[in-house]
Amino acid sequence: MGIEGIKTLGILGAGQMGGGIAHVAAAAGYDVVLVDISDERAEAGKAGIAKRMGSAVRKGRTTQAEADAAVARISATGDMQAFASADFIIEAATENVDLKLRLFAQLDEIARPGVILGTNTSSISITRIGAVTGRPTQVVGMHFMNPVPVMKLVEIISSLQTSEDTLATTLALAEALGKTCVQARDMPGFAVNRILMPYINEAFCALYEGIASAKDIDVAMKLGTNVPMGPLTLADFIGLDTCLAIMEVLHDGFGDSKYRASPLLRKYVEAGLLGKKTGRGVYDYREA
Ligand code: CAA
Repeated sequence: MGIEGIKTLGILGAGQMGGGIAHVAAAAGYDVVLVDISDERAEAGKAGIAKRMGSAVRKGRTTQAEADAAVARISATGDMQAFASADFIIEAATENVDLKLRLFAQLDEIARPGVILGTNTSSISITRIGAVTGRPTQVVGMHFMNPVPVMKLVEIISSLQTSEDTLATTLALAEALGKTCVQARDMPGFAVNRILMPYINEAFCALYEGIASAKDIDVAMKLGTNVPMGPLTLADFIGLDTCLAIMEVLHDGFGDSKYRASPLLRKYVEAGLLGKKTGRGVYDYREA
């Protein structure tokens, strides 16, 4: 199917990533079917999008009429059967292999034949996900960055079986959403996390060894290499559990000790100090 046939996007997962993808899809003029595990969760995701669009209106980035029209294009539900009307589906559920494999088997049953199934996984094998469906040539990796409305990149990953048609349609769709694409091979971490996570992990190793304080590590990289956030602030922003999980995917996938997770990163996760989302990670956000 070419991009002309795509009018309705199905988004599975109304959290930070799914909500962000639904936001850009609705803003780009697509009808969106936003599904989560309950009507309440899906509606909460839609309410979050409406709130962020409201703040874009206040900043003069869009008009109230455009924001209202975009929000009205999103239908939120807890019922996956609603994906029967979708022309392209993007899964952005929790990063858990067993969950994703189960969801893809279900999506394959519900989606019409020919509908492409994209996954926003940050590191799980696309080939493995595609293999649980009856349409492995139409399964593709579509890795958005957080926060989705702000970040320009989408990393596109073809599995061993993804067809050229699927790849071309997916690239065109990501561009229609206003994103710039890079293509990466279906290997652990793809390109972004293959490079980003060892960098973040090394910042934890440096902190553990007392090379510099957390603040100085972040200032060093922020002012020294012109990144918007230092590596430890970024880790808190991504979630330390997610960073650890991706390091483990790299370590398991390559079997190379250079991907061994920092013991300090592991300790933070064991303590439940997962970063911004729990109020505390490397830094304390509870007072802010
Ligand atoms: N949703 C929508 N918009 C958001 C947002 C969100 N969650 N957070 C911030 N924004 C918008 C703000 O509204 C603001 O918009 P305007 O320019 O229109 O006013 C803009 O982003 C800048 O925000 P702020 O002024 O509040 O803050 P900032 O200048 O410090 O920028 C940031 C915040 C965009 C998050 C910036 O710090 C940044 O780019 N950080 C790095 C983010 C990054 O590296 N992301 C990738 C993580 S890796 C990943 O996602 C992949 C993976 O698999 C782990």
